Formats: sequence, structure tokens, C-alpha cells
Amino acid sequence: MKNALSQKDTAVKNCRNNYLLPLLFLISFSAVLLLLPAAARAAADMELPESSYSTQNSTFKILVVYATRAGSTIEVAQAIGKILASGGAAVDVKPVKNAANLKDYQAVILGSAIRRGAVLPEVTDFAKTNKEELRKIPVACFIVCMILREDSEQNRAKAASYIMPLQDELSFVDAGFFTGKLDYSRLNFIDAFIIKYFIGTPEGDLRDWQKINDWAENLGIKLKNK
Ligand SMILES: Cc1cc2nc3c(=O)[nH]c(=O)nc-3n(C[C@H](O)[C@H](O)[C@H](O)COP(=O)(O)O)c2cc1C
Repeated sequence: MKNALSQKDTAVKNCRNNYLLPLLFLISFSAVLLLLPAAARAAADMELPESSYSTQNSTFKILVVYATRAGSTIEVAQAIGKILASGGAAVDVKPVKNAANLKDYQAVILGSAIRRGAVLPEVTDFAKTNKEELRKIPVACFIVCMILREDSEQNRAKAASYIMPLQDELSFVDAGFFTGKLDYSRLNFIDAFIIKYFIGTPEGDLRDWQKINDWAENLGIKLKNK
């Protein structure tokens, strides 16, 4: 009797190891393959607005380029653009992929959301591709991320490390480090799953508009004095 039971146990184990686990793996793998294009499409479909701000007779032209995945960096870039314009500049705010004619500008600001410990690849590409042009004018950068939701020396160091690949190409007159926004409903399935269940970052809009505006105002003064 005992022998028969242990034979049954072994048969169940064999069935699980030989069929069930590979089947589960296959199902998960297929689900990821099916979801990846949808995830890529969701990011590609997001509207990436361009805006311009200026006061009368402004001759100092600034380009603010941004890269985003869920949209919160767009409003940060626009807020920075508005403040710089109120200080007397003519400011164009554009997605980094639409940036052109850098020769038209006297300063450039690069802005990026952070994903998986890095600035978005289109910003790094932009810095690399245009470094000759960008090294001739003042350049600043800002990042929008969630690690700074807890202000500690360790987290500030981590945030500073995110922009290091950009600093390999360019030196910045200033760098802004801002907390961002996390809204699971704006993420594709895979990103929402990772951030919710693996990383565990809670939802919330932690953008500190006062800090963003103050940084932009101070940057405007620095750029004028350059
Ligand atoms: C999949 C994923 C990965 C993220 N990785 C990081 C990270 O490594 N470090 C960090 O500080 N924030 C991280 N964040 C938080 C985002 O940087 C933050 O939500 C930011 O506001 C997103 O900007 P966006 O809305 O313009 O895309 C991550 C968010 C998601 C969804």
C-alpha cells in the first residue's frame, strides 16, 4: 500500500516536472511575447506636445527637450519653459526626437524621465549625436524620478548617478533632480506589474512645483550671466 502511494507521488512529481512546468513557462513566455508589441505601441501612441513661450522682444533662445514614457516629464518641461520665458527668453519645448536646428538656440536643457536606473535612451543618443554643437553653448539637464521620494544621502547619490552617462558627453551649468509621478493606469501591463509587485513604488504625484520653478528661475539667471 505504502509502495503504491509513493509510486503515485513519483508519477505526480514526474508529470509536474515533465509537462506542467514547461507548459507554464511556455504560457508565460507567449504572454510576454504577445504583450510586448502592445506595450511598445502604448508608448509610441502617447501625444508628445511642442510648445513655445516668450515675452516681447526676447532674443535669447532656449530649447528645452524632453523624453517621457508616461507623460509627467512633459509638464515639468513646460513649467521650466514658462519660467525661463518669464525671465525674458524665447523658449521652445519639444520632445527630444523632434529637436532640430540647434544652431538657432543660445542654450539647451535636456529633460528625462528615469526608467530602470537610467535616463531614457533617446536623451543619451541626443547628447552623443549633438555633443559637438552642444559643447559650444550652455547646457543644463533635469531628471524626473521616484527615488527622491525619500530624501536621503544614498538616494541623492543614486539620482546623481542617473545623469553620469550624460556627463560623459557634456558638462552641465546646472542639473535639476525632481520627484515625479506614478500612476499605474498610465503604464503598460508589464511596467505596471514590475513597478507594483517587484519594485513596490506606490502611486502618487510628487512633483514639487515650487522646487521646479525655483530651479528654473535660478537657471535663467545663470544662463543670462554666462
Ligand atoms: C517601469 C518603471 C521603472 C522606473 N524606474 C525608476 C528608477 O530606476 N529610478 C527612479 O528613481 N524612478 C523610476 N521610475 C519612476 C519614474 O521615473 C517616474 O514615475 C517619472 O515621473 C516617470 O516620468 P514620465 O511620466 O515622464 O515617464 C520608474 C517608473 C517605471 C514605470
